[in-house]
Amino acid sequence: ASDSRVSYIRNSVTKIADYPKPGIIFRDITSTLADVRALTYVLDIFSERYQRSGITQIAGIEARGFIFAAALADRLQTGVTLIRKPGKLPRAVHQQSYSLEYGEDTLELHRDALGATDKVLLIDDLLATGGTMQAAAKLVSQCGATISEAAFLIELSGLQGRQRIAQAGVSTYAICEYD
Ligand code: PRP
Ligand code: ADE
Repeated sequence: ASDSRVSYIRNSVTKIADYPKPGIIFRDITSTLADVRALTYVLDIFSERYQRSGITQIAGIEARGFIFAAALADRLQTGVTLIRKPGKLPRAVHQQSYSLEYGEDTLELHRDALGATDKVLLIDDLLATGGTMQAAAKLVSQCGATISEAAFLIELSGLQGRQRIAQAGVSTYAICEYD
């Protein structure tokens, strides 16, 4: 999307230099969430893109992805599916580990959360290296569901995350982009 709403949303994101460590520019979306005009534009843009697309479930990634998943599911009248950090989901899960800048992390999804008749939109606040979303996409595929797309508020395009998600056979959409 490249309308005036995108500029408004882009300006609502706070930029913090050297957080959490020197050299990193942190893109903080708490200011976007707190601005009702920015938040409404975000949900309007996502709704326009995904209405009438046959999506049955919106899968949000812990933690900030949950916010967008829940709000958009209300707009699109779909269910919400939670992709969580390890040890949080009580029933049998599928697991995927993925590499971070330093070390490893794991995501989990209930095995019975999704099935072959589901068309799933994956959503998170921000795309960096793409490791998180690549793991999430594998989890949804393990359940036998179809993936519509991976959607983000922000893409840090210099980190090539979109290419990593494409390796899982999934296309990426982001509202705003930063280098
Ligand atoms: C952030 C962000 C994405 C992920 C992106 O989450 O919300 O989920 O990092 O990074 P990647 O593209 O390099 O994988 P974080 O791990 O900080 O967790 P949180 O949402 O629970 O704070
Ligand atoms: N997650 C990974 N990189 C980030 C950044 N630069 N800003 C906010 N969240 C992030």
